[in-house]
Amino acid sequence: MSRTVYVNGNFVPEEEATVSVFDRGFLFADAVYEVTSVVEGRLLDFEAHITRLKRSLSEMDMPMPMSAEELLASHRELVEKNDLEEGWVYIQVTRGEADRDFIYPQNLKQTVVMFTQANKVAYARKGIRVQSSTDIRWARRDIKTVQLVAASLGKTAAKRQGLDDTWLIKDGTVTEGSSSNTYIVTADGKIVTRHLSNSILSGITRAAVLRLANEQKLTIEERPFTIAEAQCASEAFMTSATSFVTPVLEIDGVELNNGNAGPVSSRLNEIYIEEGKKSAI
Ligand code: PDD
Repeated sequence: MSRTVYVNGNFVPEEEATVSVFDRGFLFADAVYEVTSVVEGRLLDFEAHITRLKRSLSEMDMPMPMSAEELLASHRELVEKNDLEEGWVYIQVTRGEADRDFIYPQNLKQTVVMFTQANKVAYARKGIRVQSSTDIRWARRDIKTVQLVAASLGKTAAKRQGLDDTWLIKDGTVTEGSSSNTYIVTADGKIVTRHLSNSILSGITRAAVLRLANEQKLTIEERPFTIAEAQCASEAFMTSATSFVTPVLEIDGVELNNGNAGPVSSRLNEIYIEEGKKSAI
């Protein structure tokens, strides 16, 4: 069945949705995006996603194309029109359409596209195996732009090795997964995750999971870690809006916790989903 998607104020069948070839999102990756989880037909952490969207736009010298209320209404309408129970809503905002020029004009009419994707297995996943690779992305990974080809190349290379994902390495330490934040649990039970900076995306799931971990009286250390440290850890995991808390069972051929999901990541995933369902809108 064809999805209904949103393009510049209209809800249309996906086959009829079009964007100009002169759109700067297409020509320059001059665009930002958000992915919001849908659980039991409701949006998870929506407000935080919209706050981050606003920040990404502002860092790219772009305004918000519509109000937060209008964004919520269109997200909800899209979920409803597509009968989406479990999955996510994607929104992309581009600078708009213009003649190809490295200097961007001011005040273009921005392009706004939204669509849904069903994802029934997200939180039934048992865990993933990863390999490391060099982080070749640009230096402003805190902005959620659609320049995702480096991450896509890295993840596809991992897939070709029979693995699930890649953990990206910059100057000897792990920055992120291809589309997730990364964590280890030390032998004495501390959760270690890279501190926020321009090097990583400030994950919405990361913020929620760290808050919940704190409530569980778990100790959190926000600092870089190496692959060698991760390979000696009790557990490792990743977080994102599309995968929640996913255990990492193997890193560069070394199994963690004998290749099983560990108790900390399993528990955090349970609590995250439980709490998420309560607060989803
Ligand atoms: N990606 N880091 C990167 C590079 C990401 O692309 C993502 C999310 C995250 C986690 O952020 P959040 O918890 O807010 O989803 C971290 C989305 C899911 C994607 O591109 O599909």
